Amino acid sequence: MTVSRPSYAALQSGHRTPSDLVVRAAARARTGRALDVGCGALRNTEFLLGAGFAVDAVDRDPVVATMAARMHHPRLRFVHARIEQWSMPKATYTLVAAIHVLPMLPPDVLGRVLASIRSALVVDGLLGATLLGDRDGWAGDHPLMTFVSRTGCADLLRGFEVRAQDEIEYDGLDATGAPKHWHVHRLLCSAHPTC
Ligand SMILES: C[S@@+](CC[C@H](N)C(=O)[O-])C[C@H]1O[C@@H](n2cnc3c(N)ncnc32)[C@H](O)[C@@H]1O
Repeated sequence: MTVSRPSYAALQSGHRTPSDLVVRAAARARTGRALDVGCGALRNTEFLLGAGFAVDAVDRDPVVATMAARMHHPRLRFVHARIEQWSMPKATYTLVAAIHVLPMLPPDVLGRVLASIRSALVVDGLLGATLLGDRDGWAGDHPLMTFVSRTGCADLLRGFEVRAQDEIEYDGLDATGAPKHWHVHRLLCSAHPTC
């Protein structure tokens, strides 16, 4: 039996407020080319375009391809791909946004994707990212996802200098409206100069 995954982008298309992590990263990064990995309904892409960035937005969901095409924005390039299979350009981005997407990768794949993101940043570029914590409600029954403690975060982010990190925990809803306990690490990082 094939279990179809709901389109996050279709569920969230009305939610336009950008992630505050992306807003903070954009205020500190040089305007240039940005990458929005797992861009979903394009709320962060839209914000970055408005802030003057050229944006490469990547998502595996075909619904997002349609949404991106409808934007007709000259500084937007949409790539329909799985991030772990897409060949990221090196030393290109002043800002990378990876909001609520990296935990969807298993740990070994996530390590490789983070290394690619590190190489894709320019010297003073910034990554705004979220990871799910080990007390998250999905931890334990999603074996293909990654959940990390604060120490686990530091291990995963070895190639980065963590500029700001906070950890939030609350009872809320998932994208489908189901109750869920959230445990989220929120990170602003730059590429570590010596790695
Ligand atoms: C929870 S949504 C977050 C969307 C967006 N970053 C935001 O903050 O609104 C996760 C998105 O990542 C995409 N995604 C998940 N795994 C992916 C992968 N391996 N490669 C590319 N996109 C992926 C999903 O299709 C979905 O659109």
